[in-house]
Amino acid sequence: MSDNVIEAKNIVVKFYIRRGLRRIGFAAVDNVSIAVPKGSIFGLIGESGSGKTTLGKVTLALIKPTKGEVLFQGRNIFDMDKKEFKKYRVNAQYIPQDPYASINPYKRVRDILTDIAKYHKLALNNKEALDMAIDIMNKVGLNPPERYLDKYPFQLSGGERQRVSIARALMLKPAYIVADEPVTMLDASLKASIVKTIKDMVREIGSSLLFITHEITLLQFFGPSTLVAVMYLGKLVEQATLKELLEEPLHPYTQALISAIPVPDPKARETRKLILSGTTPSPLNKPQGCPLSNRCPFAMDICRKEEPQLKQVSPTHFVACHLR
Ligand SMILES: Nc1ncnc2c1ncn2[C@@H]1O[C@H](COP(=O)(O)OP(=O)(O)O)[C@@H](O)[C@H]1O
Ligand code: SF4
Ligand SMILES: [Mg+2]
Repeated sequence: MSDNVIEAKNIVVKFYIRRGLRRIGFAAVDNVSIAVPKGSIFGLIGESGSGKTTLGKVTLALIKPTKGEVLFQGRNIFDMDKKEFKKYRVNAQYIPQDPYASINPYKRVRDILTDIAKYHKLALNNKEALDMAIDIMNKVGLNPPERYLDKYPFQLSGGERQRVSIARALMLKPAYIVADEPVTMLDASLKASIVKTIKDMVREIGSSLLFITHEITLLQFFGPSTLVAVMYLGKLVEQATLKELLEEPLHPYTQALISAIPVPDPKARETRKLILSGTTPSPLNKPQGCPLSNRCPFAMDICRKEEPQLKQVSPTHFVACHLR
C-alpha cells in the first residue's frame, strides 16, 4: 500500500480557447507531479492563474488530464470500475473558494448536510443523518446547531456559509480533501479561525488535505514541517517543507513570494528582498526555457533556451532553476 493518499504523476492539462477564428491550446498544468502523504497537510501555493485549481480538480477527477495519472491510495482513479470510483467519490471531497459552488442556495442547512449523508448511504434514516449533521456542525463552529439548521445559505454570513461548506465536505469523513482558497473571500479577522477549523477537523478525521492558497502566511497555521509546492505558470518550480521555504527559498519566484510577506520591521528583511520585473504573462505567452526567464533578475542565456528540471537538494527540498 502506498504511503500517499494521492499521487498525481506528470500531469498535463491543456485548455483550448478561441481567438477570432483560431483555436489556441495552452498547458494550464505542465508536467506536474505531487504526492500528498497519508494523514498530512500539503500546501499548494502560487499566484492566480498558476494552475492550482486545475491541478487540485484533477486529483478529484473533476478535470481529466491530457496526460499523466492520478493514484488514490495506490489505485489509478481513471481506471477504477464503477463501484470503486463511487467509493473514491465519497472519499475525495472539495471545499471551494466560493461556498455557493458546493452548497445549494435553495436548501436549508439541515437538508444540505443530511441529504449528502443519505445520498451516499452513510446514514440509514433521517434521525441518523441529523445526528451526524449536528455533530459536525458543533465541530466546525456552527453552534448551537439549532440556530442554523433551518436557515438558508443567504441568511448566513460569509464565514458561516463557508463553515457549512466545510461541514458538508466533512460529513462523509473523506480520506482526502482539497480546500481551494477556502478563506480568500472572507474578512482577514475570520481567516485564521476557519483555517484552524479545517486543520483540526482534518486531524480529527485522520484525512489528508491539499490546501491551495496564494497567501503563504496561511500555511503557517499548519506548522514548519508541512510540505509545500510552489507553482508558476503551470509549472512546479519548488517543493520543500514550509520551514525550508521560509528560511532558504531557492527559486527566485519563491524568494519574491517570501519578500512580499509583510514584516513588522521592514529593515529586518531588506537584504533578502527580491522583486521581479514586470507582471506574470498569460500562459499563452509563456517564455521559452524557464517560465520565469523574462522576469528573473538572475536570468542567463541558458534560462531562455532550456527548461530547468526539478533537482533534489535535500531529502524534502526540490527546485527547478539553472542556478542550483
Ligand atoms: N476551463 C478552462 N478553459 C480555458 N482556460 C482555463 C479553464 N480553467 C482555467 N483556465 C486557465 O488556466 C490557467 C490556470 O487556471 P487555474 O487552475 O484556475 O489557476 P489558479 O487556481 O492558480 O488561479 C489560467 O490561465 C486560467 O485562465
Ligand atoms: S532558471 Fe534562470 S530564469 Fe529561471 S529562475 Fe533560475 S535563474 Fe531565473
Ligand atoms: Mg484557483
